[in-house]
Amino acid sequence: MGSKKFKLAVLVSGQGTNLQAIIDQIEQGTLAAEIPIVISNAKEAFALERAKNHGIKPVFLDPKSYSGKEEFDRALKDLLRAEAVDLVCLSGFMRILGKAFINSFAGKIINIHPSLLPAFPGLHPQQQALEHGVKFSGCTVHFVDEGVDSGPIILQSVVPVYDSDDEEALSKRILEQEHIIYPRAIQLMVENRLTVSERKVTQKKN
Ligand code: GAR
Repeated sequence: MGSKKFKLAVLVSGQGTNLQAIIDQIEQGTLAAEIPIVISNAKEAFALERAKNHGIKPVFLDPKSYSGKEEFDRALKDLLRAEAVDLVCLSGFMRILGKAFINSFAGKIINIHPSLLPAFPGLHPQQQALEHGVKFSGCTVHFVDEGVDSGPIILQSVVPVYDSDDEEALSKRILEQEHIIYPRAIQLMVENRLTVSERKVTQKKN
C-alpha cells in the first residue's frame, strides 16, 4: 500500500541549481517528497529544462498575460491548488508574492536567500555583503511572510568571506551551502518537525 507522498511545488526564475539539489535528494531517497510541478515567471529559465529532464511538469506563467499582480497570484494559486501541493518552495524566484497569496498558503511557503538574514535582504545580497565588509556570510531558509526576506528563520549556514572575493566567488561558496540546507529544511517540513512561535522556529526531536 503506497502512502501519500508530500507534494512540493518549486517556484523558480533562473538556473535552478537549488531545484536540482532538491530533485537529487528525492531521487537518492533522502528527501521523502515528490515535485508535481515547477513554475517559472521567466520563459528562458533553465530550471524549466531541469524539471522536464526529470519528468516534472514545467509551467511558464507569463506575468505579461495578467492584468496585474493580483491576477498573476490568483493564477499561481489555482495551479498550486490543482496539484494539491503541501509546500511551496521559492527557489531563486525573483518576484514578490502578494498578501492574499501568502495568506492562502499560510505557513506553507518557504524561501532560500543567499545571506545571513536579517542582514542583506532584497537584491544582490552577496554584493551587499562584500560592500559592507562582513567577514562571514551565508544563506538562510525561512518561512515567507508579507515582508521581503523577513519571515521566521528555519536554517542557516555560514561561509567565510575572503579579501579576494568578488560577487561571483562569494555566490558560488554560498550556493554550495544552499544546496545542503534547502533539502534539509524541506525534509524537516515533511516530517512535521518545526514549531513556530512568533519569530522563533524550533525543531521537535524525533
Ligand atoms: C540562489 O542563490 C538563491 O538563494 C537566490 O537566487 C539564487 C538562485 O539560484 N535567491 C534570491 O536571491 C531570492 N531573494 P538557483 O536558480 O541556481 O537555485
